[in-house]
Amino acid sequence: MTEQQSFMPAQFRVGHLAIDMQHELLFALYHELMHSLQHEDDAYELLSIFLGLNGYVDSHFKYEEEAMREARYPDWEVKHHCAEHRRLEQDVQAFYQRFVEVHNKEAERKIAYEVATFLADWLKHHIAEVDRQLARHLNEQSADAHQH
Ligand SMILES: [Fe+2]
Repeated sequence: MTEQQSFMPAQFRVGHLAIDMQHELLFALYHELMHSLQHEDDAYELLSIFLGLNGYVDSHFKYEEEAMREARYPDWEVKHHCAEHRRLEQDVQAFYQRFVEVHNKEAERKIAYEVATFLADWLKHHIAEVDRQLARHLNEQSADAHQH
């Protein structure tokens, strides 16, 4: 991904290559969602973004959680971090459920806007704080591993 194509503002980089690349995808999805809403795309487009979000969340969280275990991240940090992941999964699931249950364009768009706001908040808090802390730990661990 070149710099021009990046939708992730520089301050969200956490300094861990794999995690940053995965976060780029989340920002791209957010961008796609906003684009879709602004262009009044149909429900099919919004639905595909939802599905993308679900799949993304699943594989990205698995990656981070495995990295935590491998790098012996302190228990309470793991607990706190994973709890935020589980909460996001539940929230996305709840949005999705509401989305597929409504059958008019206006209601669908309203939910999609809620998702966009929710995502923006989550990105700000989770990536900028919780993931940054994890990345710092992972980088320290791998620096240690290279020294021994
Ligand atoms: Fe995370």
